[in-house]
Amino acid sequence: MALRPDPIQTVELNRLITKVSLVFIFYGLAAYCFPDSKLPGPVATFFTMAAVSQSSLFTRFKSKILNSVVPISSVQQKYSKERESLCQALYSISQYQHSAKSWNDSKRSMFRTMSWRQQALVTQIGYPERIKKIDRCIGRNALLLKDLYSRAMNEHGVSALEVRSVARQNSSEYYRVVESLCHYARDWSSAGDVEIKPLLDYIKSQLHGVDRDSTLVVVPGSGLGRIAHELALENFHSVHAVEYSALMYLFNEFVYSEDPEEYIVHPYLHNYSNHTNTANQIRHINFKQVGEKPGNLTVHHKDFNDFSIEELLTKISQGLHDPAEVTHVAKNLVVVTAFFLDTAENLLEYIDSITRLADELPKGGKALWINVGPLKYGTAAKVELTHEELSLLRKKMGWKPVHEVETPKLLGYLTDLRGLWQGKYGVTMWSCEKLR
Ligand SMILES: C[S@@+](CC[C@H](N)C(=O)[O-])C[C@H]1O[C@@H](n2cnc3c(N)ncnc32)[C@H](O)[C@@H]1O
Repeated sequence: MALRPDPIQTVELNRLITKVSLVFIFYGLAAYCFPDSKLPGPVATFFTMAAVSQSSLFTRFKSKILNSVVPISSVQQKYSKERESLCQALYSISQYQHSAKSWNDSKRSMFRTMSWRQQALVTQIGYPERIKKIDRCIGRNALLLKDLYSRAMNEHGVSALEVRSVARQNSSEYYRVVESLCHYARDWSSAGDVEIKPLLDYIKSQLHGVDRDSTLVVVPGSGLGRIAHELALENFHSVHAVEYSALMYLFNEFVYSEDPEEYIVHPYLHNYSNHTNTANQIRHINFKQVGEKPGNLTVHHKDFNDFSIEELLTKISQGLHDPAEVTHVAKNLVVVTAFFLDTAENLLEYIDSITRLADELPKGGKALWINVGPLKYGTAAKVELTHEELSLLRKKMGWKPVHEVETPKLLGYLTDLRGLWQGKYGVTMWSCEKLR
């Protein structure tokens, strides 16, 4: 496969070359006009050094050198895996505006590689104006991210130094920040109702008759947490959202606030393809923070495969008047997997983890597993089962079928409903149970 140069780096390099060339032109002219003056040399050197040291290419080069001087292992030893991913996520959030603007600048630079005539024509129909508008919308998205960053730094007691020391080893995950930001549209704005509501309707339809007081709910891969939030409002004893990605976890935390603010998010601007017009590309959604997090909802920043009910029960029993009561409040379990199973590298590991939770219940307890989601496996999946194979496997592992929607429902995921490309997934919906 042919290697393509990174467009952002190319833009940065072009900019640096332009600046340095301008300094040389200035030096040539000054030396020509004032042949006896000693000033042009130092002035040109100063501006060349300023241009180089301010370029992000130099910053990256400096980081690489620093990394080779300070052994990475010595920095890594200082932080836990979770803490490190939290710092990396915070660094990526802090880089959003810079990365998004560089990406938008690369569109500007590509446009400038056309002939003068072509540029003039495209200018007349407002293309450069669209690029400017997108810059402004990036700035508005950055306002939310700035608040999110400050609050998360505060709440997790992270210092800028700590973030920098981790960030030195890794580059920013720009596209993941964009994805998390777009999740505010899916989970927490009316624009996402069309994607989330059918999932919630099915999940709730499977919960009739489930005793709220004696049931724990676990939502693995909870993303920005809307499904877990709605389940908490159903008054279960406790609901546990388990999210592996630090970005998703931090974005989910930011949903809750004692003093809710309203933000504007432009989710569809991060792509120039498939737009009918500028208005659609830069349209926004309103995201309003919810008040306080429901008292029975806990969001865990964790790999679901490491999540244990036993640990949870110990914590719950510590808070109970009579610790023996724990067998009542955690007698039953509901596991809700939404757009989650196909994210597995090893699907069997997920199913083993869910089955293990069911087997950790006290005798006489019941586990109900509700699933809504597609089967679009990633590129590194160890096994890619069909819907039918998955159903046979569940039976083999002791799960008894309860319900299944016969025809998968076509649903979007972060889909731009005014765009020219609208992806839809066939979403399977089923539930099954396991008795202790
Ligand atoms: C496709 S998203 C779905 C998010 C949410 N359930 C929804 O429907 O909007 C899958 C989520 O699972 C998370 N995830 C993947 N593997 C995980 C694991 N082993 N433990 C916990 N979360 C995981 C990802 O970070 C991502 O947020």
